[in-house]
This record gives sequence, C-alpha cells and structure tokens, in this order.
Amino acid sequence: MREPVSVIDVEAVRARFPALARVGDDGRPRVLVDAPGGSQVPQDVIEAVSRHYRRGMSNTHGAFATSEETDAVIGEARRAAADFTGADPDEIVFGPNATSLLLHVSRSFAKTLEPGDEVVVTRLDHDANVRPWVLAAADAGATVRWVDVHADDVTIDVASFDAALSPRTKFVAFTLASNAVGTIPAAHDLVARAKAVGAVVALDGVHLAQHRLPDLHGLGADLLVCSPYKFFGPHLGVLAAERSILASWSPYKLIPSSDDVPERWETGTQNHEGLAGLTAAVEYLAGLATVSDTGRRDRLAAAYEAITTHERMLADRFLAGLASLPSVRLWGIADRDRSGERTPTFAIRVGDDHPAETAKALAARGIFVWDGDYYAREIMVRLGLFDTGGAVRIGFCHYHSPDEVDRVLDALRELG
Ligand SMILES: Cc1ncc(COP(=O)(O)O)c(C=O)c1O
Repeated sequence: MREPVSVIDVEAVRARFPALARVGDDGRPRVLVDAPGGSQVPQDVIEAVSRHYRRGMSNTHGAFATSEETDAVIGEARRAAADFTGADPDEIVFGPNATSLLLHVSRSFAKTLEPGDEVVVTRLDHDANVRPWVLAAADAGATVRWVDVHADDVTIDVASFDAALSPRTKFVAFTLASNAVGTIPAAHDLVARAKAVGAVVALDGVHLAQHRLPDLHGLGADLLVCSPYKFFGPHLGVLAAERSILASWSPYKLIPSSDDVPERWETGTQNHEGLAGLTAAVEYLAGLATVSDTGRRDRLAAAYEAITTHERMLADRFLAGLASLPSVRLWGIADRDRSGERTPTFAIRVGDDHPAETAKALAARGIFVWDGDYYAREIMVRLGLFDTGGAVRIGFCHYHSPDEVDRVLDALRELG
C-alpha cells in the first residue's frame, strides 16, 4: 500500500525549469500558459539530452562502446515509456511525433479493412486521431461513423457513441482528453462499449499525459499515443500498442530493418538524444511522488495524484475568476464541481474580439497563449467557431502557480 501523496510544491518545481525563470522587458516573469501546445522541460531532461551528445553519438548495434550505449539508451527509454503508458517495453514504438505514428499504423490498419466495415471517430478529437482513420477507411472502401458532442459542456454524447457502433464496427478512435476544451471522456466506459462490438480501440493520450497517467492495459485498449514534449520531455512520439497488433498488422517497412516486435514499426534512425531525455522526463515525473520504495509505475501514479490535486486547485481558481468576468465566454465544462472531468485547459473568447487579437493583447502583457483551432478542427466546426478564428486557449499544468492564474484573470479583466 502506498502512502497518500502531498500536493505539488510549486516553487520547488518551478525552480527546476529554466524556461520558467524567463522575464520580459518589463522585468516581470513570462506566463507560459501554452502548455497544451508543449510543456517546458526540467534541467534533468536538458542534462540527459546534452549528456548523450557529450559522451559521443553512434548508431545502434555496433561492436563498440558508444553504439552499445545507444542500444542501452533505447532500452531504458522503452522501459520508461512502458511504465508511463501502462504497457510492456516490447509494446512501445518510437517515432518523431504522435501524428506520424498514427499515419504510419493507419496505413497498415487499412489493409485489415474490407468494404462494408465501419470505423468510428469523434468530433472531440484532434485531427491526428481522426484523419488517419478516415483516410484508411477511404482507401479500403469502409464507412466512417461520427460521434457527436453535447454542445453545452462539450462532452462526448454517449447516445451518439452507441448509435455509431454496430456489428460492422472494426475500429473506434477517441481522445482521452481534448486539447481544445479540456474534456476528459469516461474512457473505461467508452472502451468497454467499443469492445462489446469487438472493435479495435485507439486512444489519443497526447493531451491527457500532461495531466493524468495513461493506462493502455488498464483501459483494455489496443493502441495509445502520447508525445513526450507535452509531458516535460523532448519532441518525440510514443505509440503503446497491444503486442498482438504489432505482430499481426503488417508495417510498411524497408527490407533491411528489423522484423522484430516492436522494432519493425520504427523507421530509420531514432532520435537517440531525445530518447535519453524521455527517460529523464519520466524519472522527473516519478520523482514528484513522496514515496520512494515502490516501482516506477506506482511512483508515477502517486505523482499524478499530486499533479491532479494541484491542477484542480488551479482550474477551480480560474473558473471562479471567470464567473466575475461576464465578457469572457468559455466553451467546455464550467461547473467547478466537475473539474475532475476536465484538464485545466480552457477555450475562451473575450466579447466579440477575434481570438488572434486577444492572444496578441495577452502577449503584450507577458502572457503566452494559443489561438485558432489547434488542429482540433472538428470541434471548432461543431461549435461554430472555425470560420471566425477558433478560440483562445489558456492551458495550465502542474508547474503553474495560483499567482499566474490571477495574472491571466487580471489581464482578461483589462481586455473585457
Ligand atoms: C490531443 C492531441 N493529439 C494529437 C496531437 C498531435 O501530436 P504530435 O504533435 O506529437 O503529432 C496533439 C498536438 O497538439 C494533441 O494535442
């Protein structure tokens, strides 16, 4: 049994991230609330990447020390990514980013489809977990079924999800958290519904992984992607997939490359320095737990409890502040009692202002946010925001302080 964890010591955490110390010309610290677009990295990750460069780089499987070290870096990264995703090391595939990995596997998936088969995607998802499957269905003459959302709180419409499923459903893809509005769908329940019709299930954990620990096997899914640059590591993609899929689906690959699982899915030379950084990022996260005598997966789970507690405090503070800003409109869950069903990622608009104008005005106040559709195109179309500039996205994570929430609220008050 592990002990309960403490909440995040935000000042101690922030001191470990060099980029968070950045100040503007006005001498004030920058507020980097573009975390859903990519997080900052702690010093340990920077050090792990530079250590890899410093000690000498080599490609894999050579008969000399630097090459053996590269092999070891890849092995360690596979174990770290397995602990992080709730998979086994031989179920981990590395690539440049989640999008490339999904496009890659979707090409092989298309070969398993036949005309009349059905593929289910949602309007809540980033296009990376929509278009690859839509394109695969088109290649195979299969049919695409769409899952709708409730427009009021931007959550998955479970009746629509059920209506999309049938005995012809071969595949269901949905997100574990929306990078646009922060919704966290009830994944256990949705996977169970998809499995009841015998579908292969692909989960997009890219946004979730900054806020909750992904769990491929715990959810009973088949494929799960995440991107270390969203969880305090380097620019990389990770695919965790059921061994049976990696063994039975046939990858587009070169003849000389390995046909072993999981290497048969990895193309060309990997980003070895990035993989060293990935292991350091997972170690950083596991180190946030106050428990030390358990395995890394348990320490990660404990750390994410602390992260969730801290982030819910930030989300509650932001939502409470928004309630006193009538000119700011929020899309997504606004009820503070439901802050456990969302990440601290907020899509807003200020009055009739164009989101790009708001983002510029916030940047002038030292607050860095994204605006637009953030590639979550379907949800922006569904909410009627796509043609008029999308929304402004404010995204907090565990290294943000209550003072930063207040700075954002103060700036929004000035703009409103
Ligand atoms: C939810 C979600 N899915 C997928 C992606 C694509 O990830 P990558 O940049 O690793 O291809 C993103 C990137 O923002 C995302 O937020």
